Amino acid sequence: MASIKKVVFPVAGLGTRMLPATRSLPKEMLPVVDKPIIEYALEEAAAAGAEQFIFVTGRGKALIEDHFDRAVELFDNLERKGKKQELEALRGATPPAGEVVYTRQQEAKGLGHAVWCARHLIGDEPFGVMLVDDLIDAATPCMKQMAEAHAATGGNVVAVMEVPEEQTARYGVLDPGKREGDLVEVRGLVEKPDPAEAPSRLAVVGRYVLLAEVFEHLSAHQVGAGGEIQLTDAMQRMIGRQPFHGLRFEGRRFDCGDKLGYLEAIFALALKRSDIGPELRELIARELG
Ligand code: UTP
Repeated sequence: MASIKKVVFPVAGLGTRMLPATRSLPKEMLPVVDKPIIEYALEEAAAAGAEQFIFVTGRGKALIEDHFDRAVELFDNLERKGKKQELEALRGATPPAGEVVYTRQQEAKGLGHAVWCARHLIGDEPFGVMLVDDLIDAATPCMKQMAEAHAATGGNVVAVMEVPEEQTARYGVLDPGKREGDLVEVRGLVEKPDPAEAPSRLAVVGRYVLLAEVFEHLSAHQVGAGGEIQLTDAMQRMIGRQPFHGLRFEGRRFDCGDKLGYLEAIFALALKRSDIGPELRELIARELG
């Protein structure tokens, strides 16, 4: 099976779009229905064969570390009360000791800098990067699709999706080359272009498989768009040196870092559930009058 052993989760951002909720609560801990966003991402990485989950955290993110601990008091309480199902669910969502690793980004200098903070934990091998607030609901977990694409091409892979023309300025956008099935050769990447300057409508979303060479480029600490050290700039320098593709993944992506995207994820996932979906449908119908 194609797999990616190490996945980096940069979670040191400030989450300003979700204020005031994120004033003290990391946005990765916000629940989508009944599970924090971070758990969806961890499950997806595990499905891609990941064995080491590397969190790049920052100030005020300690709750994320606590979440993946064995909460002794809670576990014992559920055991005493015979709540087997709940207990098993919690145990299943607790990664084995030593598989979750934390490092700190001492200052939020940008996504590229956050990924660079994990360099010593990665070493020389290809690795995954997942932006947790991009929640992707898919029949085959998106990171697994990415690992398979990497196994087929041997190079860098970024997840891409088509966006409406007027939204290109929110994303990194692909200058596409040859297309083969779901894979699109990357000729260039443009960070947040105005629609008139966008080379396509293929936007990069938060899933990457990168070769370790990216760290050489990130080490330059070059400040890019928005005064931040951008991952896109480092990726840009790898184009033409190794295979580099966009994967038009199968699945639906929700931007949980944005209020409307977050609500959309909650409704879409809740409506699919057999335990609460039908009642929620009725509730919405009543609410809409
Ligand atoms: P965003 O662009 O969503 O920024 O970062 P943000 O700070 O998290 O949220 P807003 O825009 O203020 O609401 C994309 C990803 O990169 C991480 C974030 O945690 C998020 O997963 N990131 C960003 C870092 O880890 N460090 C940084 O310095 C910047």
